Amino acid sequence: MARRKVSLCSWLGCAALLALFLLGVLVGWCAKSRESPRGTAAVYQNARSQLLAEMKAENIKAFLRSFTKLPHVAGTAQNLHLAKQIQTQWKEFGLDKAELVHYDVLLSYPNQSTPNYVAITDDHGTEIFRSSLFEPPPPGYENVSGVLPPYNAFSAQGTPVADLVYVNYGRTEDFFKLEREMGINCSGKIVIARYGKIFRGNKVKNAMLAGAKGIILYSDPADYCAPGVNPYPDGWNLPGGGVQRGNVLNLNGAGDPLTPGYPAKEYTFRYDIDDGVGIPKIPVHPIGYHDAEKLLQFMGGPTAPDESWKGKLNVSYNIGPGFSGTHATRKVQMHVHTISRITQIHNVIGTIKGAIEPDRYIIIGGHRDSWVFGGIDPTTGAAVLQEVARSFGKMVMKGWRPRRTIIFASWDAEEFGLLGSTEWAEENVKILQARAVAYINTDSSIEGNYTLRVDCTPLLNQLVYNLTKEILSPDEGYESKSLYDSWLEKDPSPESKHLPRINKLGSGSDFEAYFQRLGIASGRARYTKNRKVDRFSSYPVYHTTYETFELVEWFYDPTFRKQLAVAQVRGGLVYELADSPVIPLNCRDYAEALRTYANGIYEVALKHKAQFEMYQVSFDPLFSAVTNFTEAAADFHQRLSQLNKNDPLAVRRMNDQLMLLERAFIDPLGLPGRRFYRHIVFAPSSHNKYAGVSFPGIYDALFDIGSRADQRKAWEDVKKQISVAAFTVQAAAGMLKPVM
Ligand SMILES: *[C@@H]1O[C@H](CO)[C@@H](O)[C@H](O)[C@H]1NC(C)=O
Ligand SMILES: *[C@@H]1O[C@H](CO)[C@@H](O)[C@H](O)[C@H]1NC(C)=O
Ligand SMILES: *[C@@H]1O[C@H](CO)[C@@H](O)[C@H](O)[C@H]1NC(C)=O
Ligand SMILES: *[C@@H]1O[C@H](CO)[C@@H](O)[C@H](O)[C@H]1NC(C)=O
Ligand SMILES: *[C@@H]1O[C@H](CO)[C@@H](O)[C@H](O)[C@H]1NC(C)=O
Ligand SMILES: *[C@@H]1O[C@H](CO)[C@@H](O)[C@H](O)[C@H]1NC(C)=O
Ligand SMILES: *[C@@H]1O[C@H](CO)[C@@H](O)[C@H](O)[C@H]1NC(C)=O
Ligand SMILES: [Zn+2]
Repeated sequence: MARRKVSLCSWLGCAALLALFLLGVLVGWCAKSRESPRGTAAVYQNARSQLLAEMKAENIKAFLRSFTKLPHVAGTAQNLHLAKQIQTQWKEFGLDKAELVHYDVLLSYPNQSTPNYVAITDDHGTEIFRSSLFEPPPPGYENVSGVLPPYNAFSAQGTPVADLVYVNYGRTEDFFKLEREMGINCSGKIVIARYGKIFRGNKVKNAMLAGAKGIILYSDPADYCAPGVNPYPDGWNLPGGGVQRGNVLNLNGAGDPLTPGYPAKEYTFRYDIDDGVGIPKIPVHPIGYHDAEKLLQFMGGPTAPDESWKGKLNVSYNIGPGFSGTHATRKVQMHVHTISRITQIHNVIGTIKGAIEPDRYIIIGGHRDSWVFGGIDPTTGAAVLQEVARSFGKMVMKGWRPRRTIIFASWDAEEFGLLGSTEWAEENVKILQARAVAYINTDSSIEGNYTLRVDCTPLLNQLVYNLTKEILSPDEGYESKSLYDSWLEKDPSPESKHLPRINKLGSGSDFEAYFQRLGIASGRARYTKNRKVDRFSSYPVYHTTYETFELVEWFYDPTFRKQLAVAQVRGGLVYELADSPVIPLNCRDYAEALRTYANGIYEVALKHKAQFEMYQVSFDPLFSAVTNFTEAAADFHQRLSQLNKNDPLAVRRMNDQLMLLERAFIDPLGLPGRRFYRHIVFAPSSHNKYAGVSFPGIYDALFDIGSRADQRKAWEDVKKQISVAAFTVQAAAGMLKPVM
């Protein structure tokens, strides 16, 4: 069983090392290399605690300081420079390889000589108000170059003039309210939606479907200011001149809009921009709340239907269309001149080759590109990735090597639609399908300072729970308690008060292609706010110029211990997945999740009891498949507990079943109308890319089913989706059965 590099040290060598280092860790490695079955668990913990102890808060702080001095927008020289710096550091840290991988993808920038803005015009067409062209810079950053003015990437160009309609958050339900209950027609209007609740691209899509000529997005203090907190730099709230940037694509997992499904290489066929995937056909522009107050001040039309339509500006929140009284002849005009351009982007890909199973990959990836300084997003994640890479490199330099290969990825152009990560997944699709064990995302490591937040495949639940019991809580008042304990106390699961909450994966970050398209077991972890009291969306200064190093240092994580805990979770997961002889995934938790989701979607269908019965809809096949999966999972783990760990082929056989279980939930045909979302159990919501939905095919078929004209056809679609889900769950159960 001598397999590891360290195991090459002879008995004598070990004895010599023992003499040199009386600390237990190296003893552990040598002992492990001789693999006494009983001693393994303890030994693992030693190597893991060595890795976790290597990670230092002060290093994360230094990386964050260094990486946030300048803007790092995708496609710019400054972001390429940072890629090269990270590549150099990864080599110095001791990774076996670190390479730049480039793609030529469609990006989108403001025209430097023709600024974007929105205006109010009087009846002569004269501008009587213009929105600001830039955000006041944060103190100390006045002279930094490369700060782009706020804009929505991939907006259409145009200068539409129209009456304004206030559409609340621009959600599907908001437009239903306007169209179906209030009789407000947005066709030919410019709509204004507040940011928050859902992904901004969904708002734009909804506005287009409603026939709007343009859409203005703004941040309302109700959603971007916490009570009793000052605006930055005196506190962490959004100042009135702060504006959230962000792309407004509806890619549905396609990656580069011009090369859906294929890597954007030199030879790749490209669509015309007009045919590009998910690019909006109307102008979109973001503004801050000072400017929004001017636009909303004299709105006419009906009042807000209820309090949930009112923000915290000093305005009526009337719906429109148009202004009231003496202002009634005024119009709103948008000026958007944003330019789309095919641009080179660069991922950094580092590897530590596995000692025993080099053809099995654990990927840890997060983006490097930011909208401005990236103080939180993504650099609290990129700094954590750097410290995780450094710590693994340190172990390698000491002679340790993981059982499986670890791939480190610094993705580019996440902010432009998850492009770098998706293109790399597309280029390496065959290899990843065959060899990827798991993907751990490392975007922003904080969005609050309250407790841990984990979104992952049910396969990872148990590993996450086990690991967080071994990590110290960084929370005040929890000294010497585990991260698990503080997490459980602060955010128990709604299903079981005895476990901390774990959420479904949606999208909105780079795990998307790996999980939703390829079916690779994935997870993400970060520090988050208190969901019980913090009502604001994401965090107040998200995607503004006020996301600085100081924001993190002053207000979110002065000791950097929260980020250290997140580094230990992310790095610890990678360690366990890469080095445990048996891949630490638990299929029984998937069975339990499937049962919960099947019950949930059945309840939704039963709300239409009459039609449900009339069209003879049955969920029996799905429940039968879930039962079969549950039995297969229980049997599998029973057999796993009796596995002869000294039989490498037997171990590899069961590991392959574990690795390929998530893959078994992939339908090669994809979800209806969303061919790159292929996971039958999970998908980003069709109404909010950020949120995860379970059994999305059935969910979408049932959505708003009452208003479908052809009810028979609508329920036939539901039946079809139930059968797809039943088949897929049954097929996945087959994956767990004995191999002969
Ligand atoms: C940017 O705006 C200037 C001035 O209107 C115009 O001449 C130029 O063509 C625009 N740039 C692009 C790439 O469209
Ligand atoms: C920015 O530049 C101006 C003019 O060159 C200079 O007076 C000022 O001190 C600079 N500010 C900072 C923060 O470097
Ligand atoms: C909304 O207005 C447009 C253009 O005036 C019209 O074509 C459309 O039928 C209207 N929709 C409804 C639901 O009234
Ligand atoms: C709110 O707006 C009204 C009308 O424009 C104004 O009279 C009032 O002073 C404003 N209140 C605050 C707190 O600014
Ligand atoms: C950090 O924690 C403190 C104490 O709970 C809280 O008052 C503060 O609002 C938190 N900061 C942020 C940015 O959430
Ligand atoms: C979690 O810990 C328990 C108790 O030590 C162990 O039986 C189980 O295999 C662990 N599961 C994973 C996935 O690590
Ligand atoms: C579940 O297993 C039973 C027994 O093997 C089988 O009859 C049934 O068809 C399976 N369910 C599905 C949905 O395949
Ligand atoms: Zn991010």
